[in-house]
Amino acid sequence: MAAETAQAVASPGAAAPRHVAIIMDGNGRWAVERGWPRLVGHRRGAERVKQIVRACPDLGVNWLTIYAFSTENWKRSTEEVLGLMKIFRRYIEREAEGMSAEGVRMRFIGGRERLDPKLQALMAAIEARTAGNTRLNLTVAINYGGRDELTRAAGRLSQKVARGEIGEPTEADFAACLDTAGHPDPDLVIRTSGETRTSNFLPWQAAYAEYEFTPTLWPDFTPDHLGAILDRFGLRERRFGGV
Ligand code: IPE
Ligand code: IPE
Ligand code: MG
Repeated sequence: MAAETAQAVASPGAAAPRHVAIIMDGNGRWAVERGWPRLVGHRRGAERVKQIVRACPDLGVNWLTIYAFSTENWKRSTEEVLGLMKIFRRYIEREAEGMSAEGVRMRFIGGRERLDPKLQALMAAIEARTAGNTRLNLTVAINYGGRDELTRAAGRLSQKVARGEIGEPTEADFAACLDTAGHPDPDLVIRTSGETRTSNFLPWQAAYAEYEFTPTLWPDFTPDHLGAILDRFGLRERRFGGV
């Protein structure tokens, strides 16, 4: 106990994870607890995203991937789905200037064809506009599902094989067909709201990630909460199958 405390004090955040991925959960419960519509929770959640994005570079995090909408979230009411899509559009429109100034490179993963064409156009435009930025790589998962991504990747891979571009596929060949081609794997996956499942998030990429589950609901999750989780991450021993 004493040694552990000493270590924590000696090297706060010593080994900050380079890539943090977050399952932002609990917006609905946060709102319902207050007697408000679920969309109020989603709006507050988007405010938290802004704060966390701003805090990441100073916390040593260079890659942040956030789960905004899953392939399963289409099961929700039309009102909630449309409300979420509007929040995504507004976020991109309102944050474009700030992200450009702050060195944020924004990218998206997930299937785009099911999204509103206007949203798709905004997504492509912000990706192009921020493509030269390097301070923080922000990846937003929208209409993302790990199984869907793997299925689409398998299709791309088989086309490459059919065209004779590759022979017997390697892990690297497969990774190059994922939506996250070229991204480093997440070191740490955080899920808020107390649920301890991964809900189809980054099954390939997070194969060796550390996981942190916090009871805090996403609209209450602050940069201080993130900082505390990163400090704990610095104390973990990652063995990757070795000893
Ligand atoms: C996460 O919050 C945001 C999305 C899934 C879009 P939820 O909407 O899942 O919130 P809870 O889990 O119902 O509280
Ligand atoms: C996962 O949260 C998806 C996002 C955070 C976008 P959900 O709230 O949709 O997941 P389940 O339904 O509890 O597994
Ligand atoms: Mg949820």
